[in-house]
Amino acid sequence: MDRAVVLFGTVTGTAEDLADELVEALEEAGIEAEAVDMMDAGADFFEENRVVVVCVATHGDGELPPDAMDFYEALEKEQPDLGGVVFGVCGLGDDAYPDFCEAGRIMSRFLAELGAEEVIERHEIDGFVDEVVVEEARGWTLRAAEAFKQIVPERN
Ligand SMILES: Cc1cc2nc3c(=O)[nH]c(=O)nc-3n(C[C@H](O)[C@H](O)[C@H](O)COP(=O)(O)O)c2cc1C
Repeated sequence: MDRAVVLFGTVTGTAEDLADELVEALEEAGIEAEAVDMMDAGADFFEENRVVVVCVATHGDGELPPDAMDFYEALEKEQPDLGGVVFGVCGLGDDAYPDFCEAGRIMSRFLAELGAEEVIERHEIDGFVDEVVVEEARGWTLRAAEAFKQIVPERN
């Protein structure tokens, strides 16, 4: 199957560090992977990247990280057809905020509206990302990898 990308959105670096862990987990599952910052992605991102793990922190009042907004708005403007793209979302947040993990939920909804298929239930992380949380996220990523492997060959 294809390679995968962990597409992260961060303000203070937690999602970026976690993205590196998720890359390792994908590679452990036999899938070549790399982490890409949403800040560096454009509306054509999904043309080359068909298997994607979104790893995004919520900021502001339930918003995407400011650095991810150009990417989001470019997709909103271009409305690419994401049919054939498969993805999973790992959201970071803190339930002390009213809009818990909303950025992850926004990305789930948005990518699905553009035609991509979310192949595993969203994984939501509450608060500090310690070793246990990292292990749980890696476990979720291994399950995501299995879902990707099942569905992608059926498409080709
Ligand atoms: C200014 C600020 C606003 C935040 N707003 C929210 C929010 O609305 N909902 C939420 O679930 N978490 C919120 N968080 C928590 C972050 O999502 C959480 O700390 C996350 O791990 C940060 O990831 P990052 O280091 O990758 O930016 C907020 C954190 C900060 C500092």
